[in-house]
Amino acid sequence: MMNTEELIKAEDEYFINTFTRQPIVLDHGEGLKVWDTEGKEYLDFFAGIAVNCLGHKNPKIVEAISKQAEKLIHISNIYYNEPAIEFGKRLVDLTCMDKIFYSNSGAESNEGAIKLALKYTGKTEIITTTNSFHGRTLVTATATGQEKYKKPYSKNLPHGFIEVPYNDIDAIKEAITDETAAILVEPIQGEGGINVPDDDYLPQIEKLCKEKGIVFIVDEVQTGFGRCGPLFAHEIFGVKPDIMTVAKGIGGGVPMGAFLATEEVAKGFEPGDHGTTFGGGPLVCASAIAVLDEIFDRDLLSNSVEMGTYLSSKLVSLMNKHEIIREVRGSGLLVGMELNIDGGKYVDIMREKGFLINCTAGNVLRFAPPLTVSKEEIDLLVEALDEAL
Ligand SMILES: Cc1ncc(COP(=O)(O)O)c(C=O)c1O
Repeated sequence: MMNTEELIKAEDEYFINTFTRQPIVLDHGEGLKVWDTEGKEYLDFFAGIAVNCLGHKNPKIVEAISKQAEKLIHISNIYYNEPAIEFGKRLVDLTCMDKIFYSNSGAESNEGAIKLALKYTGKTEIITTTNSFHGRTLVTATATGQEKYKKPYSKNLPHGFIEVPYNDIDAIKEAITDETAAILVEPIQGEGGINVPDDDYLPQIEKLCKEKGIVFIVDEVQTGFGRCGPLFAHEIFGVKPDIMTVAKGIGGGVPMGAFLATEEVAKGFEPGDHGTTFGGGPLVCASAIAVLDEIFDRDLLSNSVEMGTYLSSKLVSLMNKHEIIREVRGSGLLVGMELNIDGGKYVDIMREKGFLINCTAGNVLRFAPPLTVSKEEIDLLVEALDEAL
């Protein structure tokens, strides 16, 4: 067995250098708590980048995965499997969508959604927004409105992506051409700094798309599965997209994603147009069924709204005390606290104090705890944050 120092050294030696990691090795968890290999305990307010919506070691997830592993782990999409069909039917029935395609990550969900929109319309252009994040494949990095993700590949990026400022409907109107296949937006931007658009932004995009025969794609990879309050964040704005992409929280921690489409737009694909080896495997779908059960049996959507409001109000009271805080914003349990200086150092201080948080867009502290978080846990976080600031 390697000790913590040896493990970190081995990663350094053997891994391709892509992640700036925090200097701890996480070993096990339960609920909001997670422990490192030194036995230090943390409260996890980041939940694996908004993934572990039920916290760690949720008994229903553990049971679902264990039972399914004993029956069947993988079979390929050449055959039907029951958990995939059961979960797909339930998710479609819970949304304004009619059809589902399973993938394995957020990027792969967006990649498939973009392919479907292009194939369905026969057109060539996709409108995306500044500060968005849609993934790291060449197509989704191109769709991402942040230069740093695409600059090293600038000579090989696919064409047809037009970036406009977020929350600016006039910019979208100006960017639309006869070749516009789709408009792709996050209902609330996550990686870009927890940016909440005006109430009428998404409804106006929906209207434009309807008028002009453009496919309206919402990227719910980070905002979905109760993260922002309702099951999906676009519901807050009362819109019905043509395609919705999901991942992260869908399986409560197992690698899984999907895109869903209306009956009409789904007609764009025929057998052979798209596929995946692992997508919709029985193991991950069994976990996703347990996630849906828990969300509804324990009314976690209400908890997301209540605890999100509580967390935001506590952070606002910190803002009134600490000049360094510029703004608190978000929805449900996706909350950002913008500082007027770089936020990285506070992530380190909070980790030392036993709290896992994150900083995005350079100066926005991001809080995305499991949907099961309690008032007491939030109080502990805010107390530590107050001291840290
Ligand atoms: C909105 C959004 N879309 C897509 C992605 C990419 O997801 P993945 O890392 O699973 O490919 C992310 C990841 O943070 C995201 O926040």
